[in-house]
Amino acid sequence: MQDLDALVKDALAAFARISDADELEQTKARYLGKTGLLTEQLKGLGKLPAAEKPVMGARINAAKTLIEQSLTERREAIQNSRLEAQLEEESLDVTLPGRGSGFGGLHPVSRTLERVEQIFHSLGFEVADGPEIETDFYNFTALNQPENHPARSMHDTFYLEGGKHLLRTHTSPIQVRYMESHQPPIRIIAPGRVYRVDSDATHSPMFHQVEGLWIDERISFANLKGIVTEFFKLFFERADLQVRFRPSFFPFTEPSAEIDMSFGEGWLEIGGCGMVHPQVLKNVNIDSEKFQGFAFGMGLDRLTMLRYGVNDLRLFFENDLRFLRQFS
Ligand code: PHE
Repeated sequence: MQDLDALVKDALAAFARISDADELEQTKARYLGKTGLLTEQLKGLGKLPAAEKPVMGARINAAKTLIEQSLTERREAIQNSRLEAQLEEESLDVTLPGRGSGFGGLHPVSRTLERVEQIFHSLGFEVADGPEIETDFYNFTALNQPENHPARSMHDTFYLEGGKHLLRTHTSPIQVRYMESHQPPIRIIAPGRVYRVDSDATHSPMFHQVEGLWIDERISFANLKGIVTEFFKLFFERADLQVRFRPSFFPFTEPSAEIDMSFGEGWLEIGGCGMVHPQVLKNVNIDSEKFQGFAFGMGLDRLTMLRYGVNDLRLFFENDLRFLRQFS
């Protein structure tokens, strides 16, 4: 029977030399495994005289504890150094310059819309909304637009399959929807996308309008002129800006006018307006004897072109970042 103290010494020395986890487990088997050296000692116990058994048993157990302790310590040491090596290898270089994330920016037309909403808000207007897919009723009929009006033709308007629905050609149907569900006083603007069969440098099949509507007991054309003029002065930040109202025709306003603003030497058309036609008020059950008011509609894209000096409307919808970045 090998000397127990020598066996323990041997095992501890063997563990100490090892720095590989698998090798350590194999070496463990040499001492503690089924046929390991220490296990053999335990098996040998049976052959000893009964009187020696307890003493020898205790010594073997003590040796086993020592070997197991040493094994555990070595295991932890190997694990720690492996972890350290891994951390070393994967360490981050915090001095590396970052990749940076791009900042988004608002589309120029969105900037205009925000500005328009802010100005009208300061003038006491709320913002209303409506669907881009409309019915013939809201886009035309309720707005007093007769059956044979050219804007109702297939060539001028985008109809959806079945012919019942169309892409709204102006923001005016929002007037009708709002008046159907609200009684005066009404003071709203209604911005949104509109669609027409039109395409060149100053016309796009999709563009943006903002509608205005003020209905109350004593609203006159003077109020219309005041509000619209004030708006343009605030929007373009020019106190000397001139606004001109040129007689025109819309089926849903009477009288009607085109809105022109001074631009360099001349004038530029920027929207349409008028006093809401009594028939339109009747269509939405508002007492046209008691209430009256004005409406206007203007192009947001046109406003954006003027404010930023852009000469081709199509640039707004091509999504060329070289163009868009100039506004953010
Ligand atoms: N809806 C008209 C257009 O798109 C503009 C307008 C709005 C005119 C409100 C008068 C009153 O041309």
